[in-house]
Amino acid sequence: MTVTLITGANKGIGFETAKQLTELGHQVYIGARDVDRGEKAAAALGARFVQLDVTDDVSVNSALATIGSAEGRLDVLVHNAGILGAGVVDGPTALRVFDTNAVGIVRVTEAALPLLRKSSNPTVVTVSSSAGSFWAVNNPERPEFHLPLALYSASKSAATMLTIQYAKSEPGIKFNALEPGTTATDMTAAFGVGRSPEESARTVVRLATLDADGPTGTLQDESGELRW
Ligand SMILES: NC(=O)c1ccc[n+]([C@@H]2O[C@H](COP(=O)([O-])OP(=O)(O)OC[C@H]3O[C@@H](n4cnc5c(N)ncnc54)[C@H](OP(=O)(O)O)[C@@H]3O)[C@@H](O)[C@H]2O)c1
Repeated sequence: MTVTLITGANKGIGFETAKQLTELGHQVYIGARDVDRGEKAAAALGARFVQLDVTDDVSVNSALATIGSAEGRLDVLVHNAGILGAGVVDGPTALRVFDTNAVGIVRVTEAALPLLRKSSNPTVVTVSSSAGSFWAVNNPERPEFHLPLALYSASKSAATMLTIQYAKSEPGIKFNALEPGTTATDMTAAFGVGRSPEESARTVVRLATLDADGPTGTLQDESGELRW
């Protein structure tokens, strides 16, 4: 059985990804920072729960140790946890947004690498954003051109870059980043935009279920490769 960890999986795109991968037969671990929300989500799907706050080294290491003891390996890791950090642009907000959206990827990847190396087809998927694409934010025909989300966009550029750098340094593991499509979740509730999480989770699932000879070091959306 494929062993899969999804961060921030108690709601939104992460929860829907957990649902679809559970339906495909994966043993999914719901990573959530809040025990109550995480346990409820895992129970609803018949998945397992690990307490995992991507901004907390102790929490991250303990979550991966739990999976290591129970499974001995990790096949699929989905970096999904993220925050928007809209509004004020200042140092404390920047630290919070980068800590969650970028540094969190380093923490979880480093803790997961020993278990991923024990998998026969290890795959890491980063739910990044086209708001972090230099091509998209400089293209007046793209919606990202008009998006005033400096900290979020910059942190997602970092998330995508980390994906590429890990793809290079770990050639035995596939690392791909993606833009899920504008989705109606708590993150976008203030804007009243987006399609269903079910639909967006399909792109995450596609990249989480690549064959061993699948691509690595790419940024994709539902149509295929996206420009940087
Ligand atoms: N929605 C969109 O249109 C859109 C577009 C492009 C990219 N994305 C990306 O898609 C991913 C999922 O977002 P979403 O739209 O599904 O938003 P969401 O419904 O707000 O879900 C975000 C998830 O991340 C979790 N999270 C936040 N901080 C965390 C931390 N420190 N440790 C662990 N978990 C944490 C949240 O947990 P709590 O419940 O505890 O807060 C929640 O489970 C994010 O990376 C986002 O940037 C979304």
